[in-house]
Amino acid sequence: MQTLINKKILLGVTGGIAAYKSAELVRLLIKAGAEVRVVMTPAAREFVQPLTYQALSGHRVYVDLFDAEADSAMDHIELARWCDLMLVAPASADFLGKMSAGYADNLLLTLCLASRQLVAVAPAMNQQMYANAATAANLEQLSSRGILVWGPDAGEQACGDVGPGRMLEPAHLLTNLEICFKPGKLHGIGILLTAGPTREAIDPVRYISNRSSGKMGYALARAALHEGAEVTLVSGPVSLAPPAGVKMISVESAAEMLDAVMQEVPGSDVFIACAAVSDYRVDQQADHKIKKSTQTMTLDLVPNTDILAAVSALAERPFCVGFAAETRDLEKYALDKLKRKNLDMIAANLVGDGSGGFEADVNRLEVFWDGGEHSIALADKREVAKQLIELIGERYTDALSGNPSKA
Ligand code: PMT
Repeated sequence: MQTLINKKILLGVTGGIAAYKSAELVRLLIKAGAEVRVVMTPAAREFVQPLTYQALSGHRVYVDLFDAEADSAMDHIELARWCDLMLVAPASADFLGKMSAGYADNLLLTLCLASRQLVAVAPAMNQQMYANAATAANLEQLSSRGILVWGPDAGEQACGDVGPGRMLEPAHLLTNLEICFKPGKLHGIGILLTAGPTREAIDPVRYISNRSSGKMGYALARAALHEGAEVTLVSGPVSLAPPAGVKMISVESAAEMLDAVMQEVPGSDVFIACAAVSDYRVDQQADHKIKKSTQTMTLDLVPNTDILAAVSALAERPFCVGFAAETRDLEKYALDKLKRKNLDMIAANLVGDGSGGFEADVNRLEVFWDGGEHSIALADKREVAKQLIELIGERYTDALSGNPSKA
């Protein structure tokens, strides 16, 4: 593979005995044609001298957050912008804990916060520390934010213990890096995605909304990015971090979501409507907070435009994929939406029974298209998203070759 040629890799080294192996990784990366800059935490310097990495990478090594020489080199924001990918190897338990909590008390942690690029970590620690619930929670938290967790390996450790916690070998990390830069199946395809709920204001402090967390839509955005797509994510209010590399557009109401989507449609090849858009909005929004009274209150609701149907009705439309959230008769309602909204595909999920759909970390989907269907079994939303994106990629390619007017 020659995918690393001219790629800019920022290698973070934290305090652990495996730091010596990262010197070999630098050598392998340079040999593969990558440009490498190394950032060390203060603890890493207790294990390996910066000079080692400097000699191998051909560049000065960055250690201090407040560096008097920064003017003549790159400051931390520039460094974060410079790289195509940041890999922290070895990543100690302490570093992973701080990274998961969003600390920025050394240069490497600051770069992790400031980076919009893909970040990967290669954990390395004693097997008992790795088995600790705190470490597991930190890694799960990082992974849910889209940070790639590579390893650890199992085997004999420097302290004499045996078990999982060893850093992956440099050659293995190199392969993972090469895979990251391999052109994906959706390379160059523009994917427009909606995610999360919308909020329809009642007055300045109250609104109508729903239980969508955005997890399914954000997982789809990540899976599409991973396959090389150019992703635009139009999202309602959620508490998730935007996946690194997406063009992010945050909206609140269905009307704002419609405007944003219509603006982005012209550059998009595929439109995936995963958002739970409010079907209605309040007819007359109150200018001031509505006062409590003992009387029954009635709100007049008017229908919102169906964003998905509006996109699929365009003369020059992208390949349109809808979702159907149903509490019963999943197939019947999904097929009805597929036809009525003139879609290329629909992914249907049962909601409201607690086994997936809204808010949950897991989901299962029944996917339908004209003349075909496919089930995606109950799994973590990240896995479900991966499988759905793969299927969309296949169907989109078929549509392109078989029926150009549809794509
Ligand atoms: O966000 P999570 O907590 O992870 O939950 C994921 C999910 C359950 C929200 C997601 O998997 C899902 O099912 N999204 C669609 C929810 C929905 O509103 O379904 P619907 O059957 O009411 O709408 C059908 C389709 O029309 C959807 O693609 C929807 O985005 C679209 N629509 C609906 C109304 C509207 N005004 N505009 C639209 O574009």
